[in-house]
Amino acid sequence: MPEQQTVSKSVLFVCLGNICRSPAAEGVLKHLLHQRGLAGSIRVESAGTSGYHLGDLPDRRMRAAAKKRGMVLESRARSVSSQDLRDFDLIVAMDRDNYRELLRLASGPNTKIRLLSDFLDESWPREVPDPYYGGDEGFEHVLDMLEAACPELLDELQNGAAC
Ligand code: 4NP
Repeated sequence: MPEQQTVSKSVLFVCLGNICRSPAAEGVLKHLLHQRGLAGSIRVESAGTSGYHLGDLPDRRMRAAAKKRGMVLESRARSVSSQDLRDFDLIVAMDRDNYRELLRLASGPNTKIRLLSDFLDESWPREVPDPYYGGDEGFEHVLDMLEAACPELLDELQNGAAC
């Protein structure tokens, strides 16, 4: 039987290009939802603050790293819009530049906009580093951070604390 759930909450992950970090975050949270029998109960998407890679699949290096952990990333890059800020319950920026760009789009403070590191303990960096110009280990590090953050993020979403 396919898992059927009522969609109760929504989360949008945001990075710069929407081909590395945020589609990986989308994949990690969807994977977690699936593992917990909650697939479909939360709307999960990703977007970029730039339009550099519109319509592209995630970067092949990120797809390969995710595949090794059992995840297939198949979203297509799109730009974040002001409508997204109205539609989604929670909008999670990967780094401070993305966060500032989202606040600019929102024209001011908005409690729905958070940093990914808000869902991590202090042993992790405060920003998810951009792996695009680096080696394979950067992609693994991003996935490690996302896998550490998503259980807490889901917990807050389900308990209403995140939004
Ligand atoms: P992302 O990584 O923001 O994690 O998707 C990047 C992807 C592409 C570029 C920069 C960052 N770029 O400059 O093309």
